[in-house]
Amino acid sequence: MSPKADVYDAEPIPEAARAEIEVLLANGDLFRYRAAAGSPVAKLEDAFAAFMGVPFALAVNSCSSALFLSLKALGLEPGDRVLIPAFTFSAVPSSIVHAGCQPVLVDVGANYRIDMRDFEAKLEEDIKAVVISHMRGHTSDMDAIMALCGARGIPVIEDAAHSLGTLWSGRRIGTIGRIGCFSFQSFKMMNGGEGGMLITEDPDIIARAVIMSGAYEHNWKQHPIAHDRCRFWQNKLPLYNMRMNNLSAAVVRPQIEEVPRRVRDGRANHDHVAALLNASPWLEVPAPLEQELRAPDSIQFNLRGFDSDDEVKAFQRRANEKGVPVQVFGLSEDNARAFWNWQFIGPQKNLEQTRAMLMRACDVRLPARLGRADLDFIAGALLEAAAAVKKANRTAGDPLRALA
Ligand SMILES: Cc1ncc(COP(=O)(O)O)c(C=O)c1O
Repeated sequence: MSPKADVYDAEPIPEAARAEIEVLLANGDLFRYRAAAGSPVAKLEDAFAAFMGVPFALAVNSCSSALFLSLKALGLEPGDRVLIPAFTFSAVPSSIVHAGCQPVLVDVGANYRIDMRDFEAKLEEDIKAVVISHMRGHTSDMDAIMALCGARGIPVIEDAAHSLGTLWSGRRIGTIGRIGCFSFQSFKMMNGGEGGMLITEDPDIIARAVIMSGAYEHNWKQHPIAHDRCRFWQNKLPLYNMRMNNLSAAVVRPQIEEVPRRVRDGRANHDHVAALLNASPWLEVPAPLEQELRAPDSIQFNLRGFDSDDEVKAFQRRANEKGVPVQVFGLSEDNARAFWNWQFIGPQKNLEQTRAMLMRACDVRLPARLGRADLDFIAGALLEAAAAVKKANRTAGDPLRALA
């Protein structure tokens, strides 16, 4: 693959999608409620629910929509406070603002997981719901989270956008909280260009979400689930029209059977690169929690002993020159994963731990399709870049300029 890592290239869409897409192109039936039953979107919902082992799934046009509908389906009121980790993508606080609620940020540690002390303290601040964003597929302590929230009757929504295939004590991430939300945006485990899924075991939540997603009139009858609850909610809820279209569903559904292979290869790739990086005194890949079996398609690591931002930027520049694009969450201007850029939620305080992590945490995509030579190339470039910056820093008078 060298000299440049093609970490943004997608896998081809499985051949099996072609026949269904051809039918859609021929008959133009792209709207999910056009057919009386068994549309490609309905088939995707059915297959995804079976894969996750849950009774109910609703396909929508993005994970952001799934998160928004989750909050609405839980019946949250305008101004309600919703706890989220301070390390996530701006889509998460955005969906909360969109639902008229107020995001409250909880600190995240150097291992990218929620700081449970801060979580417990902030739960006392009149929190009405919690969204656990398993950011970059790093699972926070779900046992502790569920116990703390259960004791207070606070519902948990799992943002599993990056966690399709991750297991927590053998349970699928996304099935532990009251609602699980997934993304099929192109850089995720299943690629629909755009798309999302909401799963739950609660018939009222699915009925409310189905209607609000845009099942106007009696279109809910095309969902073979929770009909008594849908009938009850008929005409009582606003419609937000966040439906998935048939073409996206046709593209996504055949990828479900690819997930186990992608998860297995993604984890092996990640662990191979992690072992190489952890051999360096300058790089550290935090270990997973004991209960966690991860499904990574990217790798995150912390720079150790990099005292100045300039050093970090020099590392980033060097890796980039060697063909490996590295994102340092806190250092790129207007980064959507740096909480201080979410100006739309107002100022946030006391998140120094998360801020410190974001200033040294690096992010490299590591899609499952990469082979051993690609992985070694990526790890080699990162190791060399770190060593070069630190060596230059030790020897030269103005080392960073020398590397610039
Ligand atoms: C952690 C996280 N949650 C939610 C989302 C929203 O996903 P979507 O783009 O499908 O709305 C993203 C998007 O990348 C994300 O990174």
